[in-house]
Amino acid sequence: MVSDQKRSTENVELHAFTDLNRVEDLAPYFAALEAFDKRPQLQELKALARTHARIAPGTNILDVGCGFGLESLALARLVEPGGRITGIDKSAAFIKEAKARARHAKAAIAFQVGDAEALPFPQASFDVARAERVLVYLPDPTQALNEMRRVTRPGGTVTAIEPDFGTNAINFPDRDLARRVLNHECDSNVPQGWLVRDMAGLMRDVGLTNVRIDTRIVIFPPDLAASVFTQTGATAQSAGVITADELDTWTREIEDLRQRDRLFCSIGYYLFAAQV
Ligand SMILES: C[S@@+](CC[C@H](N)C(=O)[O-])C[C@H]1O[C@@H](n2cnc3c(N)ncnc32)[C@H](O)[C@@H]1O
Repeated sequence: MVSDQKRSTENVELHAFTDLNRVEDLAPYFAALEAFDKRPQLQELKALARTHARIAPGTNILDVGCGFGLESLALARLVEPGGRITGIDKSAAFIKEAKARARHAKAAIAFQVGDAEALPFPQASFDVARAERVLVYLPDPTQALNEMRRVTRPGGTVTAIEPDFGTNAINFPDRDLARRVLNHECDSNVPQGWLVRDMAGLMRDVGLTNVRIDTRIVIFPPDLAASVFTQTGATAQSAGVITADELDTWTREIEDLRQRDRLFCSIGYYLFAAQV
């Protein structure tokens, strides 16, 4: 397991989530996902998702883009006895870690490497298919939704928890600079920055019904806010959206806000739950 690895959340490039197999040092990605996962507002959405999906002992769940199993492991306890959790992710390293964590927790979870856009399961294999912070990183999220519907039994539930990058917020004093950095992140860096604005319609397009939507604003903890938003500026500078001097200002101001305990960063998250 990675518990003894460096826990810094610096240098996390969000667009890398599209293919983590290309990333050499995944330690910051583990740390950032774990830190963000603890946010109470995100945990509230997860709890709502479990309620909407009627998760109980005996439920058979597919966790699409499961990462290293943060939610798969939590769900494993809730479906005992008689239920089953399957986790699938494109990252071989995350699946290896997920298997180690499941062994450690003595949880019987079937983790495997695979692609959300081509799920290797027959139709109607699961009661519930869920994805969290995954669809925004895919080239074709509609195809993934279609696959999640296909592998879920009639009467089952598909849930997705995804951020809207158009709602990224920071209390940076130079609003023009902040808007340029955050617009670049939303429009050019993350593959599907505005996905949630179309999600309900896309779910209906693939044949899902009774789409429910819940939302929470997730507040970043200060250290994660500083590392994520500093990197967002560096990414914008690499793309020529801001100058090196502006990146210097961006980096220094964020560090100053953090040091004075004044840094505020947030992002809107949405839960979609629909029936098959
Ligand atoms: C931001 S992480 C979220 C992980 C996990 N759902 C969680 O909430 O901790 C995004 C995940 O999507 C996975 N991913 C990206 N593209 C994928 C694909 N085409 N098929 C399956 N997983 C994919 C990444 O490897 C990564 O684990």
